[in-house]
Amino acid sequence: MSNTQATNEHIINRADMINMIAKKIDAKSYLEIGVQTGKTFRAVNIQNKVGVDPDPKWKDQTDVMGSDQYFDMLEDDDKFDVIFIDGLHHWQQVARDIANSIDHLNEGGVILVDDCAPKQKAYQTRQPSVLHWTGDVWRAWLRYRLRMSEKGWFSCTYDVAFGLGILHKHNEPTEFNEDLKAIMSDSWQCDYEDFESKFDDVLDFRPVESFIDDWQGDENAKS
Ligand SMILES: C[S@@+](CC[C@H](N)C(=O)[O-])C[C@H]1O[C@@H](n2cnc3c(N)ncnc32)[C@H](O)[C@@H]1O
Repeated sequence: MSNTQATNEHIINRADMINMIAKKIDAKSYLEIGVQTGKTFRAVNIQNKVGVDPDPKWKDQTDVMGSDQYFDMLEDDDKFDVIFIDGLHHWQQVARDIANSIDHLNEGGVILVDDCAPKQKAYQTRQPSVLHWTGDVWRAWLRYRLRMSEKGWFSCTYDVAFGLGILHKHNEPTEFNEDLKAIMSDSWQCDYEDFESKFDDVLDFRPVESFIDDWQGDENAKS
């Protein structure tokens, strides 16, 4: 099986998903943290696009700097409709990227976080060690799923690539039982095995086909 098939990206890729969301919410502005070759960035059809990457291979519309420095430069009212977080895959950085993205998201906007769902322990080491490296993005993702649910936000994770997290206020807020809260509130020190034992629940892991239902078929998802 090719890597593309292994990740479900033959059904829909991240740029397709971003474009579907953008159409649904009539997005006019897009920020991508971690642009690399611009594979996703170039395929996104949103009027105003900005990329941020300290070492990009694709430099058009890209600010060459780390995401912390970029957010520090923004004015409070500099906001985006869609923000895709795919920069440094260490939980502390991802947590800052999510927090800063929330502060710079327009009302009705959507945040996407890549690589939230490592299906094997070897994928989520701190240093890149395997082809399907996700880093420990999942730790930040779980913490923010819980934190933002308490503030009335919805989140779930789609089974595309290595888990695409989505955070927004278009649906009813997500609720978690006490067992899940225990894992999520301490996610930076949680054992991978505990995370793995509740993988589907702590991530609200959904098949990629349900993304299409959620964002194309359900008019209630519209703001
Ligand atoms: C997985 S790649 C991004 C892939 C791209 N989003 C895509 O879909 O084609 C991760 C990128 O994050 C960049 N990066 C590393 N640290 C970063 C930081 N602090 N802020 C923003 N980007 C960072 C790396 O240089 C690398 O190009």
